[in-house]
Amino acid sequence: MTSSPASPHDDIQIMRDLVKDYRDGFALPRHFYTSEAVYEHDLKAYWNGSWIWAGHVSQIPEPGSFFLFDYGPESVIVVRDRENTVQAHLNVCRHRGSRVCLKDSGTARVFSCPYHAWTYELNGRLRGARDMGSDFDRSDYGLFPVHVRVFQGLIFISVAENPPPIDDSLEKLAPLTEPFGLEQLKIAHSASYPVPANWKLALENYMECYHCAPSHKEYSRSHSLKDPRDMVELIEPLKERSLQVGLPTDEIYWTGSDAPRPVADIYYSRYPLYPGYKTGSQSGELLAPLLGQLSDFDGGATDLQIGPLNNFLVYSDHIVCYRFIPRSMQETDIQIVWMVNGNAEEGEDYDRETLTWLWHVTSQDDERIIRHNQEGVSSHGFVPGPLAEMEWGIRAFYHGYLNLI
Ligand code: FES
Ligand SMILES: [Fe+2]
Repeated sequence: MTSSPASPHDDIQIMRDLVKDYRDGFALPRHFYTSEAVYEHDLKAYWNGSWIWAGHVSQIPEPGSFFLFDYGPESVIVVRDRENTVQAHLNVCRHRGSRVCLKDSGTARVFSCPYHAWTYELNGRLRGARDMGSDFDRSDYGLFPVHVRVFQGLIFISVAENPPPIDDSLEKLAPLTEPFGLEQLKIAHSASYPVPANWKLALENYMECYHCAPSHKEYSRSHSLKDPRDMVELIEPLKERSLQVGLPTDEIYWTGSDAPRPVADIYYSRYPLYPGYKTGSQSGELLAPLLGQLSDFDGGATDLQIGPLNNFLVYSDHIVCYRFIPRSMQETDIQIVWMVNGNAEEGEDYDRETLTWLWHVTSQDDERIIRHNQEGVSSHGFVPGPLAEMEWGIRAFYHGYLNLI
């Protein structure tokens, strides 16, 4: 008897068996990074079932301003409607499915489909459809709504019918991030680093600093996260300084990680930079005006995760936002957005190149190590090895991921 090629259905069955046999505290088997069926399933079950950071309110300052946010096969229109509310719609025409909006960003009065010109209001309602007969009811064919949460100016979207609960976690987080004035930020620079690897490998790389010392020379000079012993030594003096500049010193660790749907969990922890560093700069000196209500630099940086897909690194004078956007099974965009105080002027208050230096060089390193990681994991000879203690973040991610898929 000859064996037939595996169907996507077999592929998912293989994945289910692997989940059953998964050894806690170890890396995931290669199948999770090499199977098209698993990738499709990741998008449907994990990405579409999560909250995703789409952007910032400063990108849509007035009624009609919009931008597109895309991942995998999905495209979402994020728009400020006439009532000044941030809304999001699936960018898929209700007639025969064309993309409705083709521009990355701009200002619109309506969204008109380029195919047969069905026209939608900013709030998604269908306004006009030519020659559809007398019993056609336009109110049945609005753009599919996408859930939105705006947290201190950060816009999160979820295409799930019932997105995971997030409001309680955001409420807990609010007093901790309040002093940074996130709502008043503006985007200073965005960059994308495409990497030929599965999105999980890119995300996992960001979730641990076990690789920082060997792989990130520049980062390791200034960030004590690369060595837990240094962190322990420097953390108490940092806490004193943080309180002095007006920052609460509470931490949040994955508020509901035992819940069946941990994808909306939040992590907040401020850690010390090495002495002589005010912020994530090459010289140690400041890069931009202080954020929000901070009275001075405390020499710390906050690791903030809002759901495992959305990462923010909050220095005292700028924030760096990360996403790892799946484009195909082994193509991922490492997207980085640098934000500064909304009234800071480029050239006067900050220099774009100096501001972005650290995470530009660090992301180039990451692109390389993630690429080599995929190459190795794709080998049939790969056997998942044990995680180090410093890789606890990956372990937490696997728990959430394996639960959800
Ligand atoms: S597909 Fe949009 S109008 Fe036909
Ligand atoms: Fe890295």
